[in-house]
Amino acid sequence: VLETLVADLRRSPPREREELEIGRMLRGVYEAGFDRKLMERPGCYTRTCVYNDERFELLLLNWHPGALSSVHDHGGQHCWFVVLAGNLRVDDFTRIDAGDVAGHALVEARDSRTLLPGDLDLRSGDFDIHRVAHAGEGCAVTLHVYAQPLHTFNVYDHHAHTYKSATGSYDEVLGSPR
Ligand SMILES: [Fe+2]
Repeated sequence: VLETLVADLRRSPPREREELEIGRMLRGVYEAGFDRKLMERPGCYTRTCVYNDERFELLLLNWHPGALSSVHDHGGQHCWFVVLAGNLRVDDFTRIDAGDVAGHALVEARDSRTLLPGDLDLRSGDFDIHRVAHAGEGCAVTLHVYAQPLHTFNVYDHHAHTYKSATGSYDEVLGSPR
């Protein structure tokens, strides 16, 4: 299923498609069933690269109980994900300062929702900020499309009112048809 998705996206990359179409493609992976064994790290999440090129990257994240992402943006890129297994909580934040002081950011918690298997989340734009946490029982698995690939983004400390730049890294890379 993932191989088909990669081939499909390589033919016509995410930024040339309608957002609803990406959502349908991701949901298709969920509906087809997913049982690949992924790397695990107790209390954390791991990032597995399925495919990347200069136009997009496809990642699988495996969320152990207790896993919690930073409060982060997406470097101005588009980011879609579907929950393949388990439950997650997504906390949205809004940046309320003018963004004109380096290293300083005021972000405010907006709302939270729980995502169930098959649910989708879409992010785009510079200040689309969220935090993702494991919820419920057992591991949770999500499939992400970033377009373009997510190289650098910002991580926010919403208590200290600061942010810093971060870079994405992979815990493992699946053999992909390149
Ligand atoms: Fe994110």
